Amino acid sequence: MKMVACGGCAASWRRCVVVMSLRLLFLLPAGLPVRSQGESQSDNKQMDNITIRQGETLFLSCSQGDFVTHTAWLNRSSILYAGEDKWSVDPRVSLVTLNQDEFTIKIEDVDLTDEGQYICAVQTSSRPRTTSVHIIVQVPPKIVNLSKDLVVNEGSNVTLMCLANGKPEPAIVWRMLSPSDDSLGSDNEVLEIPFISRYRAGVYECTAANDIAVDTQTVELTVNYPPSVSDGRDVGVTLGQIGVLECEADAVPEADFEWYRDDRRIFNGFDGIEIEDAGALSKLTFFNVSEADYGNYTCVAINKLGSANTSIVLYEIIEPTSSTLLQGPGAVQDGNSGTSTVFTPTCLLLILLLQLLLKF
Ligand SMILES: *[C@@H]1O[C@H](CO)[C@@H](O)[C@H](O)[C@H]1NC(C)=O
Ligand SMILES: *[C@@H]1O[C@H](CO)[C@@H](O)[C@H](O)[C@H]1NC(C)=O
Ligand SMILES: *[C@@H]1O[C@H](CO)[C@@H](O)[C@H](O)[C@H]1NC(C)=O
Ligand SMILES: *[C@@H]1O[C@H](CO)[C@@H](O)[C@H](O)[C@H]1NC(C)=O
Ligand SMILES: *[C@@H]1O[C@H](CO)[C@@H](O)[C@H](O)[C@H]1NC(C)=O
Ligand SMILES: *[C@@H]1O[C@H](CO)[C@@H](O)[C@H](O)[C@H]1NC(C)=O
Ligand SMILES: *[C@@H]1O[C@H](CO)[C@@H](O)[C@H](O)[C@H]1NC(C)=O
Repeated sequence: MKMVACGGCAASWRRCVVVMSLRLLFLLPAGLPVRSQGESQSDNKQMDNITIRQGETLFLSCSQGDFVTHTAWLNRSSILYAGEDKWSVDPRVSLVTLNQDEFTIKIEDVDLTDEGQYICAVQTSSRPRTTSVHIIVQVPPKIVNLSKDLVVNEGSNVTLMCLANGKPEPAIVWRMLSPSDDSLGSDNEVLEIPFISRYRAGVYECTAANDIAVDTQTVELTVNYPPSVSDGRDVGVTLGQIGVLECEADAVPEADFEWYRDDRRIFNGFDGIEIEDAGALSKLTFFNVSEADYGNYTCVAINKLGSANTSIVLYEIIEPTSSTLLQGPGAVQDGNSGTSTVFTPTCLLLILLLQLLLKF
């Protein structure tokens, strides 16, 4: 008998299952429900979909009315509540209201597995009716697998990865956060940076976003490269004064410095000499420059990827006396640094003027 009944509702198998369940539940005489399946005699309504976030509480309500003999809420084909009787073993499911007007149950802490069709079945003395509602569970995005902070050498191929869960499926975007660079990014889980340069070092941000929320995480990318030193500037100092030679190196990781006088290494604590390193800068200080200190010094900057050097000349400035003053500014400085000995046009003019004046 029942098999025959089901054969007739192949197109709506679900409804068939519901009717079967109800028949079992209400122990209806076999003959009646078979006929009551016809569209003319039973009422089957589809309510609007309900969208709910994971973790929230879902209320399922359906209207009752007079002459209701039996009523039930079903999850797919299994009965959650039959009237006041709880059939579900799930502790999250409970009865809220059951009276003449409504039949409401709630499901706490909704999860993805709760998604699907829920059906309220109502049996009256005249005819059964069902109300179905489709539950859609949304999950905020969560980044579950992210590349660790990374240290690479310049020229490496870098791949950053960001995987996220969520429903609807989150869209993933990579961008360079600091220094901010809009030209560098990716609209998917993988950010590839071939032959990375030092200018691509920084903080990268992965954003996973869907309709309901956004999750962001950052990755710090360090790019190592060998030192480069800026050209040393020669320094002129008068005998007995303080002289400071400066050497600046750009390197990651930060460079260590070594100072040489010709081929001889100079160490901190040498007589009247101090070497002071502060980040990218190293200073060699002579507290009381003597005749022997004048000469050619080399600063070498070293890190694990290489080294670079520059030479700086410490040269003597003759204390200006009355005689040297008369000779004009060009003679004041000792000339092995090149730049300091050049006669500027204004200097030449001054000298010419002076000579002209002296003639009169
Ligand atoms: C309800 O959700 C189902 C399953 O996701 C979908 O097929 C259907 O189109 C939705 N109906 C409405 C009215 O949004
Ligand atoms: C609904 O049915 C599905 C599939 O059987 C199950 O995983 C889920 O826990 C059920 N939810 C409730 C609230 O009964
Ligand atoms: C993260 O992704 C990497 C690369 O696909 C994979 O090797 C690793 O097992 C993943 N880790 C986790 C916790 O999923
Ligand atoms: C980086 O990728 C390029 C091709 O994209 C390849 O030719 C090169 O060998 C790779 N370099 C390293 C260090 O893997
Ligand atoms: C600098 O050195 C000279 C010669 O060694 C010495 O005469 C002078 O007193 C020193 N000056 C200072 C400030 O130490
Ligand atoms: C200083 O020494 C370096 C290396 O020893 C050399 O290359 C450079 O030409 C020297 N500079 C001067 C001005 O002598
Ligand atoms: C300085 O650098 C040059 C190449 O730029 C190298 O030939 C020389 O050996 C270096 N000197 C020192 C002291 O490292």
